Amino acid sequence: MYSEKVMDHFNNPRNMGELENPSGVGTVGNAKCGDIMRMYLDIDDTGVIQDVKFKTFGCGAAVATSSMATELVKGKSIQEALEVTNKTVMEALDGLPPVKVHCSLLAEEAIHAALWDYAERNHIVIEGLKKPVEDIEALEH
Ligand code: FES
Repeated sequence: MYSEKVMDHFNNPRNMGELENPSGVGTVGNAKCGDIMRMYLDIDDTGVIQDVKFKTFGCGAAVATSSMATELVKGKSIQEALEVTNKTVMEALDGLPPVKVHCSLLAEEAIHAALWDYAERNHIVIEGLKKPVEDIEALEH
């Protein structure tokens, strides 16, 4: 049911944890399954993502997609990171079962939410980036 890559990232997640002084943090959740994903980004002055960490309170596919997403955005520019969609993440994992597609959406949303936070902190506008819609407060209580 799951590809070898999914199992690998689930069993050995890359970049799991948190960053002490992140440039941006994004937390998103899925109200239906209750899973939550948090991304921490360290972005340097030139707009390159130097480091990224994640914490996922969720299913195995969510852990695997977060892990793969961190690998895909690390070392990339903000614009390149914006192009990492849930489809990109799924393709990099050699696919996900249809019922698990929503898990990969969390990864895309978490990256966007962290970039949004970074933009707000620095009073900048990132072209093409939309405000995260998820009301995470509601999920955490
Ligand atoms: Fe909800 Fe996977 S089941 S994120």
